[in-house]
Amino acid sequence: MDCSHIQFCTQKEKIDFYQLQELFKLGAFWAQERTQSDLKTAIANSNPVVSIWDGEYLIGFARATSDGVYRAAIWDVVVHPKYRGLGLGGKLVETVLSHPQVNKVERVYLTTTHQQNFYKHIGFEYNDTTTMVLYNNSPYRLLQTESRELEVGNRE
Ligand SMILES: CC(C)(COP(=O)(O)OP(=O)(O)OC[C@H]1O[C@@H](n2cnc3c(N)ncnc32)[C@H](O)[C@@H]1OP(=O)(O)O)[C@@H](O)C(=O)NCCC(=O)NCCS
Repeated sequence: MDCSHIQFCTQKEKIDFYQLQELFKLGAFWAQERTQSDLKTAIANSNPVVSIWDGEYLIGFARATSDGVYRAAIWDVVVHPKYRGLGLGGKLVETVLSHPQVNKVERVYLTTTHQQNFYKHIGFEYNDTTTMVLYNNSPYRLLQTESRELEVGNRE
């Protein structure tokens, strides 16, 4: 496929949330249930947000969150299935990494279930030592929130 007409964009304003939802449904198993309203919040709080366009069609997406100096994380990297294997995914991640909000940061993290080899190509390494996660809906977390609310209620 000739990709010379494909464009990369870092303007958040350009994101079409309907198309983004559809792209996630096609290519991002972890983001199947996302609503347009929540996606708007996530994008408003991310920088950079990089999208790939074939004319008016959104065919790729990635975003990062970053403190600009110490730590950044890359999220939601996806290329439309029809456009994979053409170098777009690599260029997408490189565009995120070269953005001023990310390119001076000490460490860039990401989580991936199946695409370790794709990221190794770009220079990412395995990192078994620092990964933990807190699920906001875990029973422990819900219990903590409830008891904190109870405490505040008792004080009032
Ligand atoms: C992962 C993904 C973004 C890669 O996009 P892509 O456009 O196909 O990737 P590219 O064509 O730029 O590939 C870049 C390089 O990585 C290699 N590569 C791509 N996917 C790979 C994989 N799964 N395993 C090993 N190497 C891979 C390519 O061969 C290419 O190597 P080269 O530079 O030596 O030619 C795409 O497959 C995708 O959207 N997958 C579904 C969503 C997903 O899993 N995203 C990652 C979530 S963390």
